[in-house]
Amino acid sequence: MLSPRTPYVLKSPIFSVSHDPQDLRLAVVVVVAVVVVVVRAVVVALQVVVVVVAVVGVEMSGCYGLNKQEIGIHSDHNIDNSTAILKEWLAAVSSSYHSVEAKFDEKKRGYTDEKSPLEWSEKRMSNVMKKRQSALDYARKIWADYIFMIDADVTLENKKTLQILMAQQRLVIGPMLNSSTEGYYSNFWGAMSEKGYYRRSEHYINIVDREDMGVFPVPMVHTALLIDLHHWGSPYLSYNRPPKDYAGPRDDIIIFAHTVKAIGETMHVINTEYFGRVLYPLNENYKLTDDLDLFDHVKLEAMVEEVPPLYSSPHVHVPMRPKDKLGFDEVYMINLKRRPARRFRMLKAFDYLGIDAKVIDAVDGRQLNDSYLEERGIKQLPGYADPYHNRAMKMGEIGCFLSHYQIWEEVVEKNYEKVVVFEDDVRFEVFFRRKLQQMMEDVADKFEIWDLIYMGRKRLNKDLERMVEGSQRLAWPHYSYWTIGYLLSNHGARKLLDQKPLGKMIPVDEYLPIMFNKHTEKEWLVQYSPRDMIALSAEPFLLYPTHYTGEPHYFSDTEDSVVISKGKEEEKKGGDQDKKQDKEETRDAKDSLPEANKIEPQAALEKLQSARTKEEL
Ligand SMILES: *[C@@H]1O[C@H](CO)[C@@H](O)[C@H](O)[C@H]1NC(C)=O
Ligand SMILES: *[C@@H]1O[C@H](CO)[C@@H](O)[C@H](O)[C@H]1NC(C)=O
Ligand SMILES: *[C@@H]1O[C@H](CO)[C@@H](O)[C@H](O)[C@H]1NC(C)=O
Repeated sequence: MLSPRTPYVLKSPIFSVSHDPQDLRLAVVVVVAVVVVVVRAVVVALQVVVVVVAVVGVEMSGCYGLNKQEIGIHSDHNIDNSTAILKEWLAAVSSSYHSVEAKFDEKKRGYTDEKSPLEWSEKRMSNVMKKRQSALDYARKIWADYIFMIDADVTLENKKTLQILMAQQRLVIGPMLNSSTEGYYSNFWGAMSEKGYYRRSEHYINIVDREDMGVFPVPMVHTALLIDLHHWGSPYLSYNRPPKDYAGPRDDIIIFAHTVKAIGETMHVINTEYFGRVLYPLNENYKLTDDLDLFDHVKLEAMVEEVPPLYSSPHVHVPMRPKDKLGFDEVYMINLKRRPARRFRMLKAFDYLGIDAKVIDAVDGRQLNDSYLEERGIKQLPGYADPYHNRAMKMGEIGCFLSHYQIWEEVVEKNYEKVVVFEDDVRFEVFFRRKLQQMMEDVADKFEIWDLIYMGRKRLNKDLERMVEGSQRLAWPHYSYWTIGYLLSNHGARKLLDQKPLGKMIPVDEYLPIMFNKHTEKEWLVQYSPRDMIALSAEPFLLYPTHYTGEPHYFSDTEDSVVISKGKEEEKKGGDQDKKQDKEETRDAKDSLPEANKIEPQAALEKLQSARTKEEL
């Protein structure tokens, strides 16, 4: 799919054309990837990771034919270890690029006019404008065919990105990037106001959602974009010299967009494939550690989605996060030994989140048999039948119950005050640690005792639920399914054990709502007493299932075991319709911005789109 540009290769004296046939074919297009790493200042070892993002992206560009690429990295004003890391990386990979243009300035640390390293202060803005312009000038000077600009907050995950962009033969084209959080942030604008500010357009959402797919003319792409330096218009483009009569802000991307417009051209964005993600831009009320959390979230999500997982480059040394137990006595993660992939993913997630968890080998339903059940006195609750299948409990469900049960026992045995329980198929809300901590502050503030707190669940009676008075983070749960993640106190565990539930067992996610007396099946309820657990729920949720019932990668070890072939949620909850609702709930929750940014989410998003134009903020 490379564009046939043979003549231009010869213009480029710095590229040697080898005689390897493979190379000759590639040599038709000489790619110069000048990467402007606009490192936004950093705390030691923190932004490190943000830098690695870009680095990973660049390494992947290996498939574009590295020996035809020059890589440029500019990094300065760091307040962290970025430069050392970039140098380490370059030492390992530079020989595979045609050449390297690296500019580091380790003397300047931060900007004198910034309130926070996430602020677009005058000085930062000027420097970035200068940096981008010098990269562009440099690419022109060496007769590069293209320049690909990519900022440090992008994870470029699609190895064909450059080929795809080049094949479109546009003056300026950006690969549409997914946002690091669900929601409508991306690296392009659908419309622009006269003065050059962001405006929401009608088709913006359709493009972001990929309801419309293709190549779209748009007034602005930024953060990751390819400029075709052979296009007649390219000499007119600039990041720091606005066209005549320009009345907009001093802002690199807005000036650049106006230079495109001034020659009657437009930028393009392409969304035909998944290319990668862009970090949601945080404003100056945030800290760099938040940026790191956001980046970790991208890595966590990449382990869930069907995209290649993002691991740190083997060529850089990334310090491990310190781990703790989140302020609890123990953190458990239940996993079946025969599901090593799930275990691996969760452990990796705990590494990123700094969680020191204890793995509990789940009781495998496949290993259970009647004699064992008899021996342990395990009996199904009289009158229990799955509400939709009218069937008995499955071995998988019994195994799942026993796995949780063994944790409750340990909590009492070791006299733990409070613990966290995760199953192995969870997906974490962005800023999970901080939100959990904030929620626990609310709990401490409002409750002397509590027994159980859901971090995520399937609500069955949303209309009957209400928030805990005076709290923005806690709700009173009604009848709910799932046990993907919850917090349990010592007396919560005692209450669960006191009922001797092994002798009248029902699935664990039915048992919990019974114990706080919110089950709809009265005949089951009455067989347990007292049902006085104090149960709360995170609201919005802090955890979601990795896959919803019926989705391609959904499977359940509790549900797919002997006796029954179908997921109960799907049946109980009406399949697709419900799945959609679940997902919408996810989106609602994920759209909500983290604390520091309590403005109307939509308005906030739009303001952040115009991002660095302070007048509007
Ligand atoms: C900074 O990065 C370099 C290169 O990766 C590493 O060797 C060094 O230990 C790091 N220093 C700190 C303080 O993290
Ligand atoms: C990227 O965004 C699209 C919607 O535009 C979504 O369908 C897709 O699942 C997202 N991909 C990833 C890997 O997040
Ligand atoms: C029944 O299950 C128990 C526990 O998994 C196991 O130790 C025992 O060997 C099994 N018995 C039979 C007859 O399969």
